[in-house]
Amino acid sequence: MRKKIVAGNWKMNNNKSETADLIQALKSLSFSTDVRVMIAPAFTHLAQAEELTQAGRIEVLAQNMNANDSGAFTGEISAKMLHSIGIDKVILGHSERRAYYNETDVGLKQKVKTALTYDMEVVFCFGEELDQRKAGSHFEVVQSQLETVLFDLNSTEWSKIILAYEPVWAIGTGETASPDQAQDIHAFIRGLIASKYDEDLAKDVSILYGGSVKPANASAIFSQPDVDGGLIGGASLNAEDFIAIIQSI
Ligand code: 13P
Repeated sequence: MRKKIVAGNWKMNNNKSETADLIQALKSLSFSTDVRVMIAPAFTHLAQAEELTQAGRIEVLAQNMNANDSGAFTGEISAKMLHSIGIDKVILGHSERRAYYNETDVGLKQKVKTALTYDMEVVFCFGEELDQRKAGSHFEVVQSQLETVLFDLNSTEWSKIILAYEPVWAIGTGETASPDQAQDIHAFIRGLIASKYDEDLAKDVSILYGGSVKPANASAIFSQPDVDGGLIGGASLNAEDFIAIIQSI
């Protein structure tokens, strides 16, 4: 049975002490056993975050990783390095990585393979841009992203995949997909997985929504039957807002 997940993507925010303070503020929170709460601090603070969360149920994930095991890739971080500090989850394919660092679905496919080799869970981000939504091609765009990156995985590998639909036009813009828009595309995504694999596998995949989720809109979005939680950017940097969002699930 799939779990509900609220994950905070802290992006390039928070220094060491701000990261620790935010974690301390979240640590006392209790939440239902069918909910998972995750945070993705910057690489430099992952080891600290892992230590600070050890006794509790908050899970720590990385925001990115390189597809290669090791080698001459200045400035990069490997799955092996993450693994060595106890990080067993990673966000891949975020639209900011695609837009600013030229990440492509073909390259992401390799990253997903590497992550799975290290038995890591992957939060795979995908979603259409504004002009694609306006042209009505968002279903095709999303289908192509999923097919290219994930549809040659076997069903055991799928147990390590969490999907995060993040329409680019809703990220950091204050504009959110309406609950109906989110439900429509999440149901479409689940249907795609069911037709490529089977209904049981499709039912087990958590599909998160990301893009300007705030305390004010979280429960309407999360109450949609195919929305299994959210990947939260800006609002996850504020303890009070992030806690309110977690409590909306
Ligand atoms: P915002 O919640 O700031 O729109 O960011 C969403 C996001 O990019 C999460 O990965």
